[in-house]
Amino acid sequence: MEISISDYSENNLDQALAAFKKYYPSFESTHRLDNLRASEYARLEKHNQIYLDYTGGGLYAASQLHQHMALLEEGIFGNPHSKNPTSLVMTHLVEQARSYVLEFFNASPDEYVVIFTPNASGALKLVGEAYPFNAHSRYLPAFDNHNSVNGIREFARSKGATVTYIPTVMPELRMDSAALEAELNQVEPGSDNLFAYPAQSNFTGVQHSLEWIAMAQARGWDVLLDSAAFAPTNRLDLSIWKPDFVPLSFYKIFGYPTGVGCLLARKVALQKLQRPWFAGGTISITSVQGEGWHYLLENEAGFEDGTVNYLNLPAIEIGLRHIASIGIDIIHERVACLTGWLLNQMINLRHSNGHPLVQIFGPTNLKERGGTISFSVDDPEGARIDYRRIEALANQANISLRTGCFCNPGTGEIVHHLEKEEMAQVFNQPAALSFDDFFDWAQSEHNRNPSTIRISVGIVSNFADVYRFMQFLHSFKDKLDADIQVVEIDYPKYGLLRDSA
Ligand SMILES: Cc1ncc(COP(=O)(O)O)c(C=O)c1O
Repeated sequence: MEISISDYSENNLDQALAAFKKYYPSFESTHRLDNLRASEYARLEKHNQIYLDYTGGGLYAASQLHQHMALLEEGIFGNPHSKNPTSLVMTHLVEQARSYVLEFFNASPDEYVVIFTPNASGALKLVGEAYPFNAHSRYLPAFDNHNSVNGIREFARSKGATVTYIPTVMPELRMDSAALEAELNQVEPGSDNLFAYPAQSNFTGVQHSLEWIAMAQARGWDVLLDSAAFAPTNRLDLSIWKPDFVPLSFYKIFGYPTGVGCLLARKVALQKLQRPWFAGGTISITSVQGEGWHYLLENEAGFEDGTVNYLNLPAIEIGLRHIASIGIDIIHERVACLTGWLLNQMINLRHSNGHPLVQIFGPTNLKERGGTISFSVDDPEGARIDYRRIEALANQANISLRTGCFCNPGTGEIVHHLEKEEMAQVFNQPAALSFDDFFDWAQSEHNRNPSTIRISVGIVSNFADVYRFMQFLHSFKDKLDADIQVVEIDYPKYGLLRDSA
């Protein structure tokens, strides 16, 4: 049986590591990531930072930057929309990056195309604005979706489609499979219907079954599989799973560059989309003399508005090759071991009076979940500690974690029992509320404390990171909410933020 630790002192780290390795023998197979961290991610140690927000953004290896800078220093790159020598070189690199994305996700070029976008949200918007929703069609998102998937409902509604959310069920916060199946069975023959769910929740880390893809398609649905939180630490094999639309952001997988994502789209599904406009680069010809005269280009070209982020696209191939050289399965294994250890420690962390210190939202074991853990912290009398204080104290300890609702309001509403009637009041205010206003309102009006904290492990997380995080959590043991100091969040001075003094 896995042992939970009671002594989180610095002196006990080596002993805890030895016990951890015994319980998770496969961790040893990921050892090269420790070497890689030392050589490629040395800045973590240099600045003494404990990075636990991989679901927010991944970290890049130093060599990714060097390779990219060397390419830029050496080359002369023109806008790929031309046919001159510098443009042709760039076009070649862009197309090479595009085909490597397909290769990385094992997607056949006969079946899928890669549309480069600014991020996952950009990919989602492309689908939302162009999906042929009409009064006979349905949009079926999950409660557990990110807001950029929720936002598609605005396009669906404006075209008269019916929007129905699939609830997630406590305590594991998985989709209600009976409700889902019942909804999937309700489609009008010949209508266009879109089912959109996350492969992995950015709130709870729950991995929703990929089996739903084929089941939904068999009933006449198009399936959008939001893979932004899944792809960084899991193999997404598009020769096995065939969602119609797969949005993702590359910085979440390998940190650099930001500003590039993609929509992997099945060609047959893409043909259904009706773009609401055209832009430079998306048409072969148009004329200013007639209304509606334009020919949209086929496949990805019809969806990449204007000039792509061309200088950064070679860095996408560099980043993906970096991940492939490590092996996504090795990253997955490491993340699983560290998550398993964290979950066990967290659920067993108690105040001296026996009250649990932590409430985890979502699965507390490794079954069908990834390396994202959301939780709240309670004092010995059961009072929930304000996430803002925890965040400020974590900052002081050089721990980067995340608080708030993570752009996933549906799961937040479920775990904090915020009912529809209560939420209706929020949207009935004379002026828009900030998240902090909302938080204060939930506390004062409804005695709710929707404090959620999220940690997530990733590519170069190590045992010391998670141990020191537990050390931090342990510091709340036996402390009353009222006695926990209020600290101001200050801007850290490291990296390129040079202290001017
Ligand atoms: C599951 C999920 N979907 C979509 C997004 C949106 O990604 P981006 O902000 O890069 O567009 C995120 C970001 O955290 C996410 O976690």
